[in-house]
Amino acid sequence: MDLAALTTRVVPLAELSQWSPWPSRLLGLSEWQTPHRDTEKVDNEYDKDKYARCLAFLKEHEGAVTPKDVRAFELHIDPLKSTCVSNKGVLYEMPQNKIMLTNANLLQETMDPLMKEANIVVELGCGYGYPLWILRQNFPKKKFIGGELSKNAVEIARILYADDPMITVEHCNLYDHSYGPLEQCPRDAKVIVFTRHAIEQLPSAAVFLKTLTQYFDRLVAVVHLEVIPEYDEHSLLDLMRQRYMIMNDYNHDLLKLLRERNDIETMKISYDEVGQNPLNPTSVIVWKPRRTS
Ligand SMILES: C[S@@+](CC[C@H](N)C(=O)[O-])C[C@H]1O[C@@H](n2cnc3c(N)ncnc32)[C@H](O)[C@@H]1O
Repeated sequence: MDLAALTTRVVPLAELSQWSPWPSRLLGLSEWQTPHRDTEKVDNEYDKDKYARCLAFLKEHEGAVTPKDVRAFELHIDPLKSTCVSNKGVLYEMPQNKIMLTNANLLQETMDPLMKEANIVVELGCGYGYPLWILRQNFPKKKFIGGELSKNAVEIARILYADDPMITVEHCNLYDHSYGPLEQCPRDAKVIVFTRHAIEQLPSAAVFLKTLTQYFDRLVAVVHLEVIPEYDEHSLLDLMRQRYMIMNDYNHDLLKLLRERNDIETMKISYDEVGQNPLNPTSVIVWKPRRTS
């Protein structure tokens, strides 16, 4: 992903503390309580806070807002301000109103080559389904199904997509031993599963991978737009990212678990495609179940 056209200048790493409270927290200079990231923590951070506010915003403007408006509200986009983003280990200044476009471009670029193989796209941990809605614009004949823990997010999706039978979001807990959105897909369906900054919410991805394995018969590809800790790298930015992951109790083992499996074929790994938060950048992993003949 090339951000050059959307950014205004390179930001030296030494300036990051002017853009983010995190360098000070990472160095222990400002207070921070490392959470235990279980479903109660996720519920408080997303359902009861972020999505409750998004639902109130939606109800206040019902009928007059699009999923894009809800996203801009969620991300506090101020078109007059800039933000600091990352791409391939370099920091850049970018106008805030380019963030949504950048994330949408990465999603499209990653999914486009795979879409012809699939008739159903499932996003797990989908919030109110904004990434599904982005894809829905370009693929009117595919079915889009989301699974999400937050009841408020499911309710936002119900209102936003009430008139669109091709996109639905239902309750689903990634710690469960079956996933409703995948139960809906017949065995002979061709399904792409994707996650976007949702596995990060699971300190370990072990249960997720175990549950997903029972649906391998219908999966043509699995795409993760997630953070991958770069343990092999020792640059200052990479070390800060590792510490950020620990201080948020984010996922630490997705790539390791995938690599341990000989029934999984990894098709792509691409680090730090875009970091809306440079300490928690979006990387891409694409894999598929290895078929035995
Ligand atoms: C950073 S948000 C990303 C949402 C969406 N993927 C997107 O990109 O807009 C993380 C999402 O994961 C969901 N989540 C966290 N833990 C979950 C779990 N155990 N089961 C299902 N969803 C979960 C949260 O509620 C939240 O919607």
